[in-house]
Amino acid sequence: MAQPRLNTALNEGLLTLPNGRIAVLRPPVGYDLSEVPRDALWISHGFAPDHAYWADAGYDVGPQPGDLAAVIVVVPRSKALARAMVAQAVEMAPLVIVDGQRTDGVDSLFKEMRKRLGDISSVPKAHGRLFWFDTPGPIPEWKAAFSKSPDGYVTQPGVFAEGGTDKGSAQLIAALPAKLGTHVGDLGSGWGYLGSEVLKTHPEIAQLEMIEAEHLAVECAAQNVTDPRATSHWADATTWRPQTPFDTIITNPPFHTSRAADPGLGQAFIAAAAKMLVKHGHLWLVANRHLPYEAALGDHFGRVEEIGGTGGFKLFHAHRPKP
Ligand SMILES: C[S@@+](CC[C@H](N)C(=O)[O-])C[C@H]1O[C@@H](n2cnc3c(N)ncnc32)[C@H](O)[C@@H]1O
Repeated sequence: MAQPRLNTALNEGLLTLPNGRIAVLRPPVGYDLSEVPRDALWISHGFAPDHAYWADAGYDVGPQPGDLAAVIVVVPRSKALARAMVAQAVEMAPLVIVDGQRTDGVDSLFKEMRKRLGDISSVPKAHGRLFWFDTPGPIPEWKAAFSKSPDGYVTQPGVFAEGGTDKGSAQLIAALPAKLGTHVGDLGSGWGYLGSEVLKTHPEIAQLEMIEAEHLAVECAAQNVTDPRATSHWADATTWRPQTPFDTIITNPPFHTSRAADPGLGQAFIAAAAKMLVKHGHLWLVANRHLPYEAALGDHFGRVEEIGGTGGFKLFHAHRPKP
């Protein structure tokens, strides 16, 4: 994804980066950092596949360096998370740079900061905006905070189903059989709804492994799923593998990477699930009705049944994973 605004601001002399370490918060894959000296950069990303991309490209993704000269906030889709990142950035360094797409709400963030600080330098370009300001001091009301959903689960800005249980996930729980086996995997486990529910009603489960790419969700799951049979893995479920195969996998797979729907991600979850199961293992999956998962299920499992679903969701039971 080309992001020309930072380069424009630097090349045209509108913005000068100070000497010292520059943090970049949540840059998407392909975000253009070519004009910033690589040795100066420290990348922080909570989404495991993006974190791996920056690590593989040789950037510093380790622990936060002590002193930072500037922080670049790349605006995410969640408005609350974007504010939380700005609140974090102003406590990290004296200069804060914010870059984002209009469709992700960068203009309203810009307006809110202008209300607080008066005039702010900015480069509006390529369906987005880059703006920067000297740190004004803490913004406590924007800080990330855990909250309790109406059904009693802990969530925080930037996670899936931030407001409470997803309707599709609730349908999947209601459709599960009485016995799931002793070793169960939850792919894309989010803040832990499926895991928490199955542990309540399935005493036969000895080990539940929850695999989730978004660290913000893993942090919530640590509070929502405290049963000692559960372990959490911050990882990309399409490439992660269990040490011993699962008897059963439950999943409500992700259906978009950024703004656009991406059925390829759910299809990759199905292919990965088949590789993680024992020979006679079972996959229980819920999906939005319009998502095309049938062919992937047929490609990777010997038997597939649609077992119902309402209100825009469909439920599948697939077994006999193909080697
Ligand atoms: C539809 S949500 C379901 C969340 C949770 N299971 C629930 O029922 O509320 C899909 C989850 O997959 C996560 N995810 C996206 N890509 C992933 C990946 N490559 N590996 C693991 N998890 C991923 C998302 O962060 C999200 O939490």
